[in-house]
Amino acid sequence: MDEVELDKAWIQNPWPRYEEMRKQGPARRVVMPDGVPGWLITDYAEARSLLDDRRLSKDVRRARQFFPPGKLNAYRTRLSEHMLNDDPPNHTRLRKLVNKAFTSRAVSRLRPQIERITDDLLDGIEASDGEVELIEAFAFPLPIAVISELLGVPHADRDRIRDWSRAFISGAPIEPLMVAVDEQTAYLHELIAAKRVTPGEDLLSDLVHVTDDGDRLSEDELVAMAFLLLIAGHETTVNLLATAVYSLLLNPKQEELLRGDPSLLPGAVEEFLRTGSPIHLATIRFATEPVPVGDVEIPAGEFVMISLLAANADEARFEDPHELDITRPMGGHLAFGHGIHYCLGAPLARLEGEIAIGRLLARFPSLRLAVDPSELRWRTSTLVHGLRQLPVIAST
Ligand code: HEM
Repeated sequence: MDEVELDKAWIQNPWPRYEEMRKQGPARRVVMPDGVPGWLITDYAEARSLLDDRRLSKDVRRARQFFPPGKLNAYRTRLSEHMLNDDPPNHTRLRKLVNKAFTSRAVSRLRPQIERITDDLLDGIEASDGEVELIEAFAFPLPIAVISELLGVPHADRDRIRDWSRAFISGAPIEPLMVAVDEQTAYLHELIAAKRVTPGEDLLSDLVHVTDDGDRLSEDELVAMAFLLLIAGHETTVNLLATAVYSLLLNPKQEELLRGDPSLLPGAVEEFLRTGSPIHLATIRFATEPVPVGDVEIPAGEFVMISLLAANADEARFEDPHELDITRPMGGHLAFGHGIHYCLGAPLARLEGEIAIGRLLARFPSLRLAVDPSELRWRTSTLVHGLRQLPVIAST
């Protein structure tokens, strides 16, 4: 079977290509836009099963031996040695130390804080009375404020954190990436040192002191964990919020339905997650032994990329997958992954989504796109799936 080369243009509208590929089989050999070769999974059932398949490893230390020179630079740094890039038993150990902070119960206590952050941002939008770029004004600052407050990161540092994350996510060339890595590593060491001296009521201070059956995080583990929580806590939710608003504005009947009955919000958020898949490709895995998938066998040592966006639009699993239907039976989508790496922050992301979308709609009864939808562009990262900008007219 021929190797498929995926270019950056494909990311602007991946679905037709995905449908074509899925018809040919659940796994295809591809070369990604950054030149990395591997196997792309587009079929829902295979995606779900491979996300939880122990023959695929996430251990970044082992994976390094397979990286083509100059590629996947972000994985070469110590910062990437966190639980999302690890296998059991170490993954189990690390996840156990942070699980408690992210249960639905623990997260529901954050509701007043999230509501306050949301309302402050909406006040700013209302004051501007007209056209706003909704990502800059709302979808980005909201999740970064929430995760920063949760972790205890000072307000003034948020823009820097965004810039560092962008260097990672966008697969920046090695030099700017290494500068970002060094700066962020030094920053996190300093922040942790400050928390040791003066602990606050925040997750990072708790992690510094956490003891679970006598277990503790080493300094490097702590830095990598803080990095993972910061990046995962905002680079994803920003896309959920923006894509949700965008798809509602393109589907006025669904918007009307939701405005008329806010009890539909939880189901609507699930549908935004399914159709928008804020993470496009699950993070990279590699085969530790030959893995048969459909009519092919993925050889040991090769990369596997699971397209959550494609799986969530598989018509074998979801009827009329491209239709936004906020009353669709909930559950089953793979936007948060599946298996042992299932998103730790899912309860938090859901709560942020419900509060943000609910309050935005309530505050602005007439909200519309400020440009023709054809002018909007998607970010070219293969990791995240999100709009670059979302100009809207927000009037009360
Ligand atoms: C893991 C999606 C928000 C923290 C994951 C994975 C996905 C995902 C797909 C698994 C990746 C894989 O298996 O390769 C999302 C989406 C979000 C979101 C769509 C928002 C809409 C958050 C938030 C946090 C977070 C707010 C907050 C801390 C994490 C962590 C992991 C993870 C720590 C790694 C878990 C592990 O390795 O056991 N997320 N995420 N995520 N997510 Fe999220």
